[in-house]
Amino acid sequence: MIQVVVTESYDASCAYVADMICKLVNEKPACKLGLATGGTPVPMYKKLIEANKAGKVDFSAVHTVNLDEYCGIPGTHDQSYRYFMDTNLFDHINIDKANTYVAQGMGDAEANAAELEAKVYEGGVADLQLLGIGNNGHIAFNEASDTLHATAHIEKLTESTINANARFFERKEDVPTTAITMGMGDILAAKCVVLIATGLAKTDAIRGLVMSDEITTHNPSTMLKMHPNAVVVIDKELADAVGYKG
Ligand code: F6R
Repeated sequence: MIQVVVTESYDASCAYVADMICKLVNEKPACKLGLATGGTPVPMYKKLIEANKAGKVDFSAVHTVNLDEYCGIPGTHDQSYRYFMDTNLFDHINIDKANTYVAQGMGDAEANAAELEAKVYEGGVADLQLLGIGNNGHIAFNEASDTLHATAHIEKLTESTINANARFFERKEDVPTTAITMGMGDILAAKCVVLIATGLAKTDAIRGLVMSDEITTHNPSTMLKMHPNAVVVIDKELADAVGYKG
């Protein structure tokens, strides 16, 4: 079931989710967090860094697993998701990096997917899985398609996703065309899933998620409707665009 939270602004959405994470870590210091990359969570990560520096939250016993990683670029590449997590969060908080996992982008892709699958369940499932959403409704790199995958796998990225992510690369040609990703079953296995969305490019995807009870593989986010504890945090601008009234 989806609980929709509408905030005044994107900044308020980030504050809301940062607060949820801080509360969880304070209640359960050795919790496991599922983390996401992309532009959307960056200000939320900044708030976690501020809270950690202010002594309001301690990440020293926290474990993390990330949703996905590009294939074909190493963790040292400035567009890899390992690099993203280090520079946007891990390097600035008191987490033990040995307790953070981002899938390997280089080497045997199938073995890397199997390793990610094992990490999803190692020590128990995530207490909270953070999510963004693609313009086409993708969740992690589970692309809108006739079929979806339950477990970690290699996904060919759609034109829509490559175009959306091209803004982070010098040239569109540099965007990797495949990625390793958790499957939908891995995401639904988390005890709680929290999705943040902002921006009118997400209107169609969020409409499909919050305005009906239909589930379709062509908007993978709609599968979250089967989760018993899914929270979707959107700002008023996006809620108005989809016609969500609460
Ligand atoms: C990133 C991820 C993706 C993004 C999505 C939205 O780990 O899993 O599904 O959440 O592509 O990206 P932004 O936030 O850049 O719009």
